[in-house]
Amino acid sequence: MSIIDIINKKRNSQELSKEELEFAFNGYIEKKVTDYQMSALLMAICINDMTDKEVFDLVDIFIKSGDTIDLSSIEGVKVDKHSTGGVGDKTTLIIAPIVASLGIKVPKMSGRGLGYTGGTIDKLESIPGFKVDLTKEEFLKELGDIGMVVCSQTSSLVPLDKEIYSLRDVTGTVESIPLIATSIMSKKIASGADKILIDIKVGTGALIKNDRDAKILRDLMIRIGTAYNKEVRCIISDMDMPSGFCVGNALEVAEAAELLNGKIKNDLYDLCVDIASNMVSMGKEISIIEARDQVIEAIETKKAYAKFIEFINYQKGNIEAMNVSNNKMEITSVQEGVITAIDAYKVSEVSCKLGSGKLTKEDVIDHTVGVFLNKQVGDSVSVGDTLCTLYYNKVKEDFDVIKAFSIQ
Ligand code: URA
Repeated sequence: MSIIDIINKKRNSQELSKEELEFAFNGYIEKKVTDYQMSALLMAICINDMTDKEVFDLVDIFIKSGDTIDLSSIEGVKVDKHSTGGVGDKTTLIIAPIVASLGIKVPKMSGRGLGYTGGTIDKLESIPGFKVDLTKEEFLKELGDIGMVVCSQTSSLVPLDKEIYSLRDVTGTVESIPLIATSIMSKKIASGADKILIDIKVGTGALIKNDRDAKILRDLMIRIGTAYNKEVRCIISDMDMPSGFCVGNALEVAEAAELLNGKIKNDLYDLCVDIASNMVSMGKEISIIEARDQVIEAIETKKAYAKFIEFINYQKGNIEAMNVSNNKMEITSVQEGVITAIDAYKVSEVSCKLGSGKLTKEDVIDHTVGVFLNKQVGDSVSVGDTLCTLYYNKVKEDFDVIKAFSIQ
């Protein structure tokens, strides 16, 4: 077998056998296949797609590249959640405590930011002292003790995904439906939950740009889950504008806390209620309507907020000591009208340039910076009204954030 024959076969749109996929992908992790050969294969996959058989084989190869977690020692139904990634996406921080406060176990391993999309682990690291790296034993203990855990994905869990994802990130091959499905489902299956909820983000600030692709991805992930005896539900949510008011790590944690404390009711609130209701409905095998009532009650009675604080304390975080930068720059409107769009991608690009995300591997994240949206889509504005506020430290520049706002 030769890697060049495998690349040629995929380039010619032929189906690869499991042995060929193993040869290429296991060979990559064993450093027998080079970066440029794997990049060529990934690009051929991106262009020519994969059959279901190829995807199922690849998921199996990914899972077997590392450890799996056995959650059977923990009582009760375990429901995991994953988002395909978006701008200002702090939903995990909100949903996990809601669902756990209703008695369903939430074992969540999260990632760091990739490109312009933020990562839950970077957000949690805004909280002084918060421990994101847990051993398998600590992970299981916390899940048993308080019913939820959010930590960094261990390097032994699907190491092949880690390698392939970094390569996809720099070779224009992130936006491939079979590769996204393989990446997400291999991690979710390896981390052992019984049921999985996936939030597929669609729009300018997301990997998936249109509803058609979102539905293809949804159906594929449900088929993969079924093959592994896991119930998978997907919701498709809008990512044309950032989720909520804040983009930037500490700002987003503060927003999540405020929402759980009953102080915010916006698009983010609706999305979180929707996702949490689906998870509770799966976990308790009740209707979405019943689950929704329980979710809203958990927020209104502050049960979910109490669980959030319990979780932060359990992982040694001191939320009182969390800071956002004192340096603020208000960006004001130069025209009058109604805001018709706020481009999520442009807002996150500015936030990253201020330091909330990495532009190169070597960059160090500044957790205290970011963008606060003072106005939302549908709001009327006059000349001089504040559209957004930039929180900055080292870099004091507006990076033309005004271009993110369409006003008519
Ligand atoms: N999230 C993942 O974990 N993997 C992808 O490929 C895309 C989003």
